[in-house]
Amino acid sequence: MTNPFYITTPIYYVNARPHLGHAYTSLAADVVCRFNAMRGAETYFLTGTDEHGDKVVRAAKKENISPRVYVDKISGLFKDLWPELNIKYDYFIRTTDPAHIAVVEMMLKKIYDSGDIYFSEYEGLYCFGCERFYTERELVEGKCPDHGTEPEKIKESNYFFKMSRYQDWLIDHIKKNPDFIRPERYKNEVLAFLREPLEDLCISRPKTRLQWGITLPFDNNYVTYVWFDALLNYVSGLGYPDGDLYKKFWPYAQHVVAKDILKPHGIYWPIMLKAAGIPIYKHLNVHGYWNVDQSKMSKSIGNVIEPLQMKDVYGLDAFRFFLMRDMVFGLDSNFSEESFVQRINADLANDLGNLFSRVLAMAHKYFDGIVPDIDSEVEEELQLGLESDALSAIAQFEEAMDGFAFHKAVLSVWEFIGHMNKYVDITAPWVLAKKKSSKKQLEVVIYNLLNGLGIISGLISPVMPDTSAKMRKYLGIEPDMFSGKEVISLDKLKAWRVIKPGTKLLKSITLFPRIDLKKDNFDTSEQAASDLISPAIKPEISMEMFSKVDFRVATVVHAEAIPKAKKLLKLEVDIGEKRTIVAGIAASYTPEELIGKQVIVVVNLKPVKLMGIESNGMVIAAVEEKGCAVSAVDRKVKPGTPVS
Ligand code: MSP
Repeated sequence: MTNPFYITTPIYYVNARPHLGHAYTSLAADVVCRFNAMRGAETYFLTGTDEHGDKVVRAAKKENISPRVYVDKISGLFKDLWPELNIKYDYFIRTTDPAHIAVVEMMLKKIYDSGDIYFSEYEGLYCFGCERFYTERELVEGKCPDHGTEPEKIKESNYFFKMSRYQDWLIDHIKKNPDFIRPERYKNEVLAFLREPLEDLCISRPKTRLQWGITLPFDNNYVTYVWFDALLNYVSGLGYPDGDLYKKFWPYAQHVVAKDILKPHGIYWPIMLKAAGIPIYKHLNVHGYWNVDQSKMSKSIGNVIEPLQMKDVYGLDAFRFFLMRDMVFGLDSNFSEESFVQRINADLANDLGNLFSRVLAMAHKYFDGIVPDIDSEVEEELQLGLESDALSAIAQFEEAMDGFAFHKAVLSVWEFIGHMNKYVDITAPWVLAKKKSSKKQLEVVIYNLLNGLGIISGLISPVMPDTSAKMRKYLGIEPDMFSGKEVISLDKLKAWRVIKPGTKLLKSITLFPRIDLKKDNFDTSEQAASDLISPAIKPEISMEMFSKVDFRVATVVHAEAIPKAKKLLKLEVDIGEKRTIVAGIAASYTPEELIGKQVIVVVNLKPVKLMGIESNGMVIAAVEEKGCAVSAVDRKVKPGTPVS
């Protein structure tokens, strides 16, 4: 029996919109969850939002709305994003949920009653940005290391959690369980921190200063410190203390976080669990930071694209693949569109895509698209180690995935893809096809190649579920269903033969079109609209995704050239309200000929700055190499009329 698997992401603060960093953490959790489903494990994946605290109150104030309305809005943005990235969580928790609040109250009472919470006056250096007190030792040149601001000295009576009492226990626990915090560098960081005496944790905030929080069950004048509240989501989300989910999954709990929140997860949380008499989680998996080099961001189709939007330009699976392949789990990584495109072309279009279409094309050419049977006599002489290569790739993949080394897991699959490509070259099926006497050999070679593709389709499924499903459809492989996820069981892959002779194959397709980006596309501040236009049809999107794009008829009321921008025009358009749009159409239109024209525009794109001008929409145009033709309506309609 495979053990159940429970994975959590941090619950994200609702004071910022979701971005690449959040997406990576949630994606890592999704990938490892899908991998465990391949093992036949029952899986549970918890994510959500952290909604209390000072930061949220300030962010809501800025927008002139109540914290309640504000948290609903931003929490919704996170909730909506995950399905767009094909991230399949089981439950989305919010710290404003009554069930979570009840658990926090219960836990506070439990720890208070056991004597680990005490009341005391405290004077300290407080950073309002971090919502926490700092010790002198933690400050950098007297300033908060995160905000670079000087903390204020404040004096308060507060409740404290006796963390110091558990310091030796924690050191011992970490030493006895060497992979409790991984990779090792983060375990060492926590141990280094624990070399100094641990201070008790202030777990309350007076209501005179903050009301947006969970009231302490033993003192109505205080709310709970946001971290003490937030960390408990990992058990409240399972229905602690008597929920069936809690009983089944908590013993196998693993957390994924980035290095910024190592201390609350590596120190406060295990001590809170210990103090409450709850078993300690199994692993804390810590990754590094994504840095985004804005100057290298593409200006494709006239707009600067944020990394998260690139999934819509280059395809979701390519995006998931790149994030998992490029970041060494534990280290920082730099996101650049240039390396993303290079990976798509080299790893996806060339290595995997070509192999897939080549092998399928040969199966159609030589065997009318029917998986050939194999003769055991010739099978052995033509194995050429392919099966053992597959088995060792599977073993490496499993070990790497188990240890959250996603880049290594992907590499092991690509090593096998390399072996497969070599196998094609060595066996040269086109030569075998020329001789009637080599028919049996040809059957074995094509069978092995198709089967190898079947193995690959299984191994890529956690990272690229859609591509995996597409490959399986073409190869006629029925998926397995575990924990609501379509995968191929790892045991099935280990048995090598995943394809049945006699299966009908579909006609070959291009899995990943090559992307033709000229080198200097990444360096110029102005981009030709045609740069990213490739004749290949972009990956399929759902009706739901398409329906989110708001197309409207716009009347151009004013148009002018933009100094130093050869390709851009600044348009004032009427869509029922006035908008400024910067459009890359100057090579084909003069400003004068556009005035009065009705064109179709996308009106709900995030604004972008182009040549210092904020563009609030995009003009739809047919784009050819020599220029473009804007789309129009064939009779005058009211400005702002929806286009559907
Ligand atoms: N609310 C707390 C977490 C409470 S968990 C009990 C919090 N929220 S957060 O919105 O700031 O999220 C931090 C997490 O977002 C990081 O630990 C990481 O998972 C992810 N990332 C945010 N920016 C990131 C990068 N630039 N790179 C990688 N991941 C980052 O902290």
